[in-house]
Amino acid sequence: VARRRIAVLTSGGDAPSMNAAVRAVVRTAVAAGGQVFGVRNGYQGLMAGDVIPLDVRAVGGIITRGGTVLGTARAPKFCTVEGQQLGLEQVRKHDLDGLIVIGGDGSQAGSLALHTAGVPTVGVASTIDNDLNGVDTSLGVDTALNTALAMIDRLRDTASSHHRAFVVEVMGRHSGYLALMAGIASGAELILTPEQPVDVDMVAATLRAAQAAGKSHFIVVVAEGSPLKAVDLAEQLKGIDSGAYEVRLSVLGHVQRGGSPTAFDRLLATRSAAAAVEALLAGRNGMMAGLVNGCIDLVPFEVAIQPVDKVEPALCRLAEVLAR
Ligand code: ADP
Ligand code: F6P
Repeated sequence: VARRRIAVLTSGGDAPSMNAAVRAVVRTAVAAGGQVFGVRNGYQGLMAGDVIPLDVRAVGGIITRGGTVLGTARAPKFCTVEGQQLGLEQVRKHDLDGLIVIGGDGSQAGSLALHTAGVPTVGVASTIDNDLNGVDTSLGVDTALNTALAMIDRLRDTASSHHRAFVVEVMGRHSGYLALMAGIASGAELILTPEQPVDVDMVAATLRAAQAAGKSHFIVVVAEGSPLKAVDLAEQLKGIDSGAYEVRLSVLGHVQRGGSPTAFDRLLATRSAAAAVEALLAGRNGMMAGLVNGCIDLVPFEVAIQPVDKVEPALCRLAEVLAR
């Protein structure tokens, strides 16, 4: 039986091009004869029944915009059976035939719970952290990476002029992917991730080596989730002999999650969302759409939410060599 009344929601940390995905869900589903509803504010809105009709005009003008026009939320209650029951009641009340969940690993764990409870659900891989398993990358990663890179480039200008050491914190509570990639692309002297061991002595030795090599600055990119926190590292470097470098801390924070999406992210979002709708309408669910070995494909929820380490040791070694 074809699924016709489709709801779409965005959940967890917002990611640039979520809007492009919402737009593509609405327009491809309507073109296939479906009726689309938007759930506001992720699972929070699902539990509360905050459901609005979406037609093709309602998603006009959003492809260029960062954030999510549907709103998003961290909704811990949905992790409980009671919360999921509330969601299921709303699915029945609004007579929904299927749901599309645009979000990261937590959101896709929620998708799995709904799918297991009998709601035909398809995901769209979306997170700036690039920590969904089974996909090459997720929508939002490219934009966040380019934003972080642009900021680090600017810090480098001023660091060089003042002969300073900059400790730059980038996002990634559990994932060092953004730090590693932004670090390599910006030519950082050192990159610290949650996945790699580190101690202050090693950082201090690298700093002294940079000085001995005649570098006019020392940039260390630190993932939010590094065991050595950026703020602590900056304090400790101020306390040791950091030679000619004065030390400064810069926390990039949520600027990395906002902004107009890159062409890559808009296209990835559009194609993944279209594939998600196609799958749902064809009765294929319990899976997440995304980029798999360069092609748009589907990954079972159980696979997508497995922990994954995208910080490749070979790239970490390359970063070290390039920083000399
Ligand atoms: P992201 O999807 O970006 O990884 P979160 O980890 O915050 O973000 O998850 C988003 C939301 O998904 C949570 O606030 C919660 O509502 C839901 N969620 C997370 N984990 C689970 C789970 N194990 N079971 C059901 N729902 C979950
Ligand atoms: O998961 C995306 C992310 O931006 C992480 O990189 C970061 O650790 C976290 O969300 C921040 O969460 P919040 O926006 O709730 O402060």
